[in-house]
Amino acid sequence: MMAADGKKIWMDGRLVDFDDAYVHVLSHTLHYGVGVFEGIRAYSTSKGPAIFRLKEHVDRLCTSAKFYHMPMPFTAPEVEQAILETQAANGILPSYIRPLVYRGEPALGVKNLKGRVSLAIGVIPAKKYLGEGSEAGVRAKISPFRKPSSESIPSFAKASGNYLNSYLAGADASKDGYDEAILLDSRGFVAEGTGENVFMVRNGTVYTPGLDSDILLGITRDSVLRIASDLGLPVVEKQLSVNELISSDEAFFTGTFAEIVPIKEVGHYPIGTRTPGPITRSIMDVFFRVLKGEVPQYEGWLTPVPPLPEVALSGQP
Ligand SMILES: Cc1ncc(COP(=O)(O)O)c(C=O)c1O
Repeated sequence: MMAADGKKIWMDGRLVDFDDAYVHVLSHTLHYGVGVFEGIRAYSTSKGPAIFRLKEHVDRLCTSAKFYHMPMPFTAPEVEQAILETQAANGILPSYIRPLVYRGEPALGVKNLKGRVSLAIGVIPAKKYLGEGSEAGVRAKISPFRKPSSESIPSFAKASGNYLNSYLAGADASKDGYDEAILLDSRGFVAEGTGENVFMVRNGTVYTPGLDSDILLGITRDSVLRIASDLGLPVVEKQLSVNELISSDEAFFTGTFAEIVPIKEVGHYPIGTRTPGPITRSIMDVFFRVLKGEVPQYEGWLTPVPPLPEVALSGQP
């Protein structure tokens, strides 16, 4: 159980006490995994607290909800405001913010599309997700569990049920002593980690799988692609075989929770000769400075969090 510590959860327009943020045990989302969510981070920057790529996260949340026939109960600007309000109310930094769109009323029956759609937003302290200190790099196992084809479960939507697959792959990798799993797509190409995208570097070129490998189009992935090309590095999105990955010079994971984490081993194969490799390091250097608000070129990626009274929502239902 997480500690309450006077923290608040935003539920359909109201900030409720952490300990009171409950939904019904017969809720549709709990039984069938039909929920959509986001993971977002807020950082302490030189200009005060700020949320990284807020608009892009809210856009993805709305797209995921639309795909799963869940009419959003709030507009995108209202969701952005609600996230800012929840962050301000909790005052945790750095934080990990979790908006969830769900059907929370008792409504069994998988085809039941009638239940009310709700939005909840929670905030928890952000920790280093993979490995203590991202510099050290992590060991990843090629998972025996493959990503379902997007013809079955579309990877672009960040839906709760997708994470059964991530869970199985992650549990298998940790029981085998690895830090993380790398899942292949249904054709056997490298797809992604349980909650991260995968990059590799070979002969100075940065590679990452594209949507045809059944990945979530990560917002960190997009940021890294932009930073890499702005650094003048050739960037290629293509299907990658396991052999290409294990013979790469450098590899790394990207994700909101993980940020950027070098991969030092894939299965029994060491990657490159040092962790992080020089290109990974140059991208990490820019990325982590961006998060602190130190790179004017990418300042637009940070939305300042105003203090509570300024950000409070008006006229919520
Ligand atoms: C399966 C999966 N792939 C990739 C990512 C990375 O996406 P982002 O950088 O938007 O957090 C995540 C995390 O949201 C994820 O769950």
